[in-house]
Amino acid sequence: MSQYTFDTLAVELAEGIARVTLNRPEKRNAMNPRMHEEMHRLLAGLNADPEVHVIVITGAGKSFCAGADIKEFFNDLEGQPEARAVIMEVARQWMWEGIAGSPKATIAMINGHCFGGGLLVALACDIAVAGSAALFGLPEINWGHVPGGAASKKTIEAMGARQALYYALTGENFDAETAARTGLITKTVSQERLAEEVDALAKTLAAKSPFAVRTVKEIYRAAPDLDMTILHDFVAAKIDQLRIRDTAGNRSKGMQDFIGKRLRTTAPMGEQ
Ligand code: COA
Repeated sequence: MSQYTFDTLAVELAEGIARVTLNRPEKRNAMNPRMHEEMHRLLAGLNADPEVHVIVITGAGKSFCAGADIKEFFNDLEGQPEARAVIMEVARQWMWEGIAGSPKATIAMINGHCFGGGLLVALACDIAVAGSAALFGLPEINWGHVPGGAASKKTIEAMGARQALYYALTGENFDAETAARTGLITKTVSQERLAEEVDALAKTLAAKSPFAVRTVKEIYRAAPDLDMTILHDFVAAKIDQLRIRDTAGNRSKGMQDFIGKRLRTTAPMGEQ
């Protein structure tokens, strides 16, 4: 489809899964203004497309994403604060509204270098799976700069203040194992099996009720900011909304299948 043809991205749609590749391998998939504009446009399209249930984001070549394009975003826009602010806003929107706020399930498939703003792309996704060869870092301090956008808040939320500040201050790289242990990513798998594992995960998510996926995400996004009483009300209202939204009847069919013993979500005890 022409709306999914881009300069800096490659996009494939199949069986409910949109596979998005940040596609500037010669620049380690650094995010230039064009990529921000294209991701913004793409996510608006994918999020509104009822055929899309899962969005997988990965990088071309040996990197996931080397962060902001230091030349095109920082150097070339020195002295142009207004132009830079426009791009910052576009970037904020696609990451935190387009990905984190997506009604679809989102997966970051981290195939290699994941630096600076690349960490934010991973953090914006619901699930982040890295190959064992992936390398992470917030190198901004090494060139006299600071982690931009929501990097501070989001890394603190994921890793805790101790780890987040350590890596922001030292600019030290860390491996996929450390990223998983500190909570920055969901898990790491062997580099060779990365694509296969993420594909299986994407297919599992694509098979879920899209109405339930969307509602789970809305509940989990709101929960940290709600007190217990309001949370209970909110979840009850969301379940009412799910009944209305679920025009395909997945929820009632799922209940009937369970009651009629046509649905097993786990192997019986002793057969695991
Ligand atoms: N912005 C702009 N260009 C970048 C870039 C970035 N963030 N990261 C890599 N590139 C470019 C390099 O300038 C180089 O371009 P050239 O071939 O025209 O000279 C090309 O990508 C390859 O980079 P190189 O450093 O040779 O690749 P590598 O495989 O040896 O190392 C990285 C990869 C990601 C470790 C290294 O490029 C790097 O440290 N990049 C900067 C990461 C960073 O500081 N990110 C935070 C930005 S806010």
